[in-house]
Amino acid sequence: MPKYRNSLNNDQDSNDPLITRRSFLALMGVGACLVGVAQCTGASFLGFLYPNAMKVPPSTFSIGRPEDLLLREGKVFDPKQKVFVESKEGKVRVQTAVCTHLGCTVNLVDTGYACPCHGSTYDRVGRNTGGPAPLPLDFFEIYKGSSGELMVDKSKPTLDYQAAWFKMT
Ligand code: FES
Repeated sequence: MPKYRNSLNNDQDSNDPLITRRSFLALMGVGACLVGVAQCTGASFLGFLYPNAMKVPPSTFSIGRPEDLLLREGKVFDPKQKVFVESKEGKVRVQTAVCTHLGCTVNLVDTGYACPCHGSTYDRVGRNTGGPAPLPLDFFEIYKGSSGELMVDKSKPTLDYQAAWFKMT
C-alpha cells in the first residue's frame, strides 16, 4: 500500500482506488458548477428563442353583446383591459384607465378620475385637470364584430369624447 493516496496513484497492483476522496469531491464541485452554468445559459437561451411578440396582448377585445350592454348605465371598470366601459342611452364608449403620466391605473371619483400615484386628476370626460399628467385619457374605437359582440380596438385611440360614442341601437 502506498504511503500517500492521490489521483496520480496508478499502481495497477494496488487495491487502492484510482481516485481519492479529495479528487472525487473536486470533480463533483466542478460538475455542479457546470450544471449550474448550463442551466442558466440554457434558460436564458430558451427565453431568447421564445418570441416576444407572443407576450404582447392583442389590441382588440370584446366588451360583450349589445343587448347585455343596453341593460346597464354608467361606467364599469374592466381590470383586465384597464378601461372604463360607459353605457348611456343606448350608446357605449370605452376609455383608458391608464394615467398619461407614468401609467398607473386611475380611479373613478365624483369629479372624474384621480390617479393614486402622483395625484393627477381628470374631469369626467378624461381631460387632465391637475397634477403631472400631460395628456387626457384616450377613448378607443368600437365596432361590431362578426360574432355580434362589440369589439374595442386599442390601436385606434381618439380624444374626441363625443365621437367616441358607439350607438348600439
Ligand atoms: S402615474 Fe398617474 S400621476 Fe403619475
